[in-house]
Amino acid sequence: MHLYGQMAEMDPILELADRYNLTVIEDACQAHGAEYFSNKQNRWLKAGSVGRAAAFSFYPGKNLGACGEGGAVTTNDEQIASRIHMLRDHGQPKKYYHDLEGYNGRLDAIQAGILAVKLEHLFEWNQKRREAASRYEKLLSSVEELTLPFEPAWAKSIFHLYVVAAAERNELLEHLRTENIGHGIHYPVPVHLQKPYQNLGYRENDFPVAEQASRNLLSLPIHPYLTGEEQARVAQAIAGFYGAIRPSVVLNSAR
Ligand SMILES: Cc1ncc(COP(=O)(O)O)c(C=O)c1O
Repeated sequence: MHLYGQMAEMDPILELADRYNLTVIEDACQAHGAEYFSNKQNRWLKAGSVGRAAAFSFYPGKNLGACGEGGAVTTNDEQIASRIHMLRDHGQPKKYYHDLEGYNGRLDAIQAGILAVKLEHLFEWNQKRREAASRYEKLLSSVEELTLPFEPAWAKSIFHLYVVAAAERNELLEHLRTENIGHGIHYPVPVHLQKPYQNLGYRENDFPVAEQASRNLLSLPIHPYLTGEEQARVAQAIAGFYGAIRPSVVLNSAR
């Protein structure tokens, strides 16, 4: 899964899959246009082109979002492609002839039309998100209480989300709420503690890193048209909050 818009480190994943004869399927739902530099192949690879197949979501909030529900699967494998074609349309290779038990997962033509128009803008929108992320980096790097996103040299993130780890996360979140600043938690409950998986028998402390993340991660506003002034206001609110705890919190200024 390419989380928050940044691709996973694929070389070791592919190597592992190779060693144990596993199939790699990418979850690229948050990573339309994200890139990964493969040392092994000595080139940049795009999300959705690395595994045997990949899933994209076009949920309206995604970097490439429809005006309703939508999604796509990419693959280079003709057999998988033809199976997916059938599965999305009640298992039909031909109208009213069913080879499989499928379901209704067809993309509406109206959504496809909207996506085709928006696709033209994706690169520019992603670029603008990257610029917004680097403005946050400048504004917030002096705030010790925050850990900012880290982009390794092998990744080009498309910043679907801008997620920081924050000390006193819940209190900061309340402060942002009172300042009328949008925010989110991605995600509040780790998978092993979600109700549908209780039968697997996991408990708290079984995955302490994931649990810690669920307690201190906070998503700040990000989208292609976020302005430097708006980001300065977000940064001021954060500094204001921590300044009340530690009066020496100072902000850098971002241009
Ligand atoms: C990482 C990831 N995987 C899967 C999904 C599911 O996508 P959809 O809601 O379009 O089925 C989402 C969307 O929320 C996602 O962010």
